[in-house]
Amino acid sequence: MAAHPENPLRRGLVRTKVADPCVIVVFGATGDLTHRKLLPALYRLGRRAELPARYAIVGFARREKTSEQFRAEVEASLRKYTGGAELDAAVWQSMSDGLFYHRSSFEDPAGYQRLRRFLDELDRTRGIQGNRVFYLATPPRAFDDIVEHLGAAGLVQPSSERPPWSRLVVEKPFGRDLSSGEQLNELVGRFFTEDQIYRIDHYLGKETVQNILVLRFANGLFEPVWNQKHVDHVQITVSEDLGVGLRGDYFEEVGILRDMVQNHMLQLVSLVAMEPPVALDADAVRDEKVKVLRALRVVEGQEALRHTARGQYGPGWIKGERVIGYRAEPRVAADSITETYVALKLFVDNWRWAGVPFYLRAGKRLAKRVTEIAIQFKDIPHLLFSDSQAGVAPNVLVLRIQPDEAISLRIGCKVPGPAVAVQPVRMEFLYGSAFGFEAPEAYERLLRDVLLGDATLFTRRDEVEAAWRWITPILESWSAAPPPQFPNYEAGSWGPQEARELIEADGRAWRYP
Ligand code: BG6
Repeated sequence: MAAHPENPLRRGLVRTKVADPCVIVVFGATGDLTHRKLLPALYRLGRRAELPARYAIVGFARREKTSEQFRAEVEASLRKYTGGAELDAAVWQSMSDGLFYHRSSFEDPAGYQRLRRFLDELDRTRGIQGNRVFYLATPPRAFDDIVEHLGAAGLVQPSSERPPWSRLVVEKPFGRDLSSGEQLNELVGRFFTEDQIYRIDHYLGKETVQNILVLRFANGLFEPVWNQKHVDHVQITVSEDLGVGLRGDYFEEVGILRDMVQNHMLQLVSLVAMEPPVALDADAVRDEKVKVLRALRVVEGQEALRHTARGQYGPGWIKGERVIGYRAEPRVAADSITETYVALKLFVDNWRWAGVPFYLRAGKRLAKRVTEIAIQFKDIPHLLFSDSQAGVAPNVLVLRIQPDEAISLRIGCKVPGPAVAVQPVRMEFLYGSAFGFEAPEAYERLLRDVLLGDATLFTRRDEVEAAWRWITPILESWSAAPPPQFPNYEAGSWGPQEARELIEADGRAWRYP
């Protein structure tokens, strides 16, 4: 395949929209997410000249500090988290000129009044025209206060598009189950209209995830076989070798079903299973995705237990190093029953996917870091090559999302020689070598879309609720039934025996990428 050496944006092949001037107010400005992801993404957008001509960033948090101190901390974080490259002095200078710190607790109404006066002043001094992005990068327990106070202080403009506009970006988790998810949506909906709300799922910002739609709908080859007539099953794996690190307290409250499946993995399921949208705009794409979520077969009680397997890691070895078990991690209960691994089987009950199982698995401290979607096609209807039967394997199309982004197709090939022997081989397309420029990171892409007012890659209210409607009965059946003896898998392995049994009971097997 011919590689394009240059970034098409630079060559002027792609028309880029220009973002309006605006201020970005980040709640939780001293937190990990802000320093590790958000500010580096804004800096990179600045380096690509994709920030508005006039903008400001206001960090809102409770710790005492001056704007000067905040700038110094941000500079240190950028040095650490922008890939070790030297900071571009001009880009940093212009970012730092527009970077401010606003100290307040999230509960104090006076803090929001002061914020309002400060933003009005920025409108005048920096020509921001009243446009505001409010970014909730705090733990979810602070969401209610922030949203209510923003509303009460008159900080929210009614429009999402026409200046002066306001947009709200909300980080996951959007609730803990269906009813809390609905409540959160109700609350946010009291002050912001749906088109002002950007619920972030960073998986949707990944290039390879966006490529699922391109692969499916920009090629004639795949769509005719993308259905129950030809597909035997789909496997989606999100395997991480990291443990929970310092996020033990967060993880204890959520577990991996809420942390990874409710959002990232169901988004992958939607993109793989959806019908072609009528257009590529935010509502057309999300209309099709939500239909998939609505078609998920709800399983409850014993059936939910049969369709799922839970795991928790014990001590083990990762990359030659001894690592501790989940229960020994900081801020984790010594008798925790939180799952760090889940495998499950789901069905999309519609014409296209009737009877095709989707097997999903996600886990911490597994053998390696890999995210992939594998579409396994049915066996051939008739076997010609009886002597070499062992070599014939079904075709598998793998979309590798990370770490080494690729698309590969397993096909049967003749082994050279006089005998007719068949061996599976891989045809592979590697992102890294096909395009000679660096793809934007997920947060970069998503923040850019917020600034441009494009919500296509954000989760709509009905999507979140449909996902919870399917997840909640599983959570309920788990809490009613005792978990397996935890820990039940060793760090560095491929997960618990229960997960193998789940898929092997159907005469199928997990892939070990
Ligand atoms: C986050 C989860 O949303 O995604 C983390 O909260 C997880 O637990 C992370 O580690 C994985 O993201 P990525 O981009 O590394 O696959």
